[in-house]
Amino acid sequence: MIKLSRIYFRTPWKFENAAGRRRLSVLNKARWMPFTKGPDDIMTETFNQMGYSVDILDPYTAYFLHKMRKPTQPVADLGCGFGIVTKHLLNAGATVIANDISRAHLAEVEDSVPREQRSRLTIVHGDASQLDFPANSLSGIMAGRWVHFLTSPEAYFDFFHRALRWLEPGGSLCVTVHTMKAWSPPEVCAAYEIKRASGMAWPGWVSREMKWEGLRDRLPDRGYAFRLEELKGLVEEIGFHVEKCGLYGLRIPAHPPERQVELAPNNTIGIVASKSISLT
Ligand SMILES: C[S@@+](CC[C@H](N)C(=O)[O-])C[C@H]1O[C@@H](n2cnc3c(N)ncnc32)[C@H](O)[C@@H]1O
Repeated sequence: MIKLSRIYFRTPWKFENAAGRRRLSVLNKARWMPFTKGPDDIMTETFNQMGYSVDILDPYTAYFLHKMRKPTQPVADLGCGFGIVTKHLLNAGATVIANDISRAHLAEVEDSVPREQRSRLTIVHGDASQLDFPANSLSGIMAGRWVHFLTSPEAYFDFFHRALRWLEPGGSLCVTVHTMKAWSPPEVCAAYEIKRASGMAWPGWVSREMKWEGLRDRLPDRGYAFRLEELKGLVEEIGFHVEKCGLYGLRIPAHPPERQVELAPNNTIGIVASKSISLT
């Protein structure tokens, strides 16, 4: 099982056959991936204190890549970090727009892409939430673990509205974000549950002092920790059709070492949502 998941996460697009699809369905049920490697082997710290870039694929990103096997338009990897998704997309034959707010990350991506693939790669530097692609011009948008750094409800609405506009009808968006459990100790999570139960709107804002000490200098000071139903509800309200969503786990190197395994399950949300073919 462990061996299969390692193979699957590295080569999702190869599963065109029945056996592959069966494996896909088994693995999609996993809520926490039993990584055979330690967190330091799969997570690379970003250069700009924006968390870690991950070099394995979670089930939602893998499903998104599976859908992006024959895109008719470019696919954007927004907040691409060190480009794991960009490279999978390029290997699968897609034309890719790799974006990040860090020029240093983009330089790493560009340098590590084989020369023969570079004609299909466009590098776009800047804040992804402020980009302006033409309407209906993208087959897919990947937003891997940075959307939670947006700092106001308006910024979330604005970004998801833009994403819907940029996608061609039938195109797909994949979003991954961390939950409160990834960022904050249990007592902060418990206080959050009380706020949430009281019916407070947008209860998930997380400030610097609410985070695990080891994460404080590795993340922006403010972020928003969604619950699965909350993020799903938001993208549906914008007009997406949610195809697949759920929780999965990542071991986070900045968590106290003795608690990393306990804190890993269900600390990250994945959503794959599509734009209706009747929308333009
Ligand atoms: C936690 S890393 C995730 C990298 C990669 N997507 C992954 O899932 O492994 C967050 C990345 O998003 C980038 N980022 C954060 N906010 C951004 C924004 N508003 N626009 C573009 N990139 C952003 C950071 O520079 C960093 O590379």
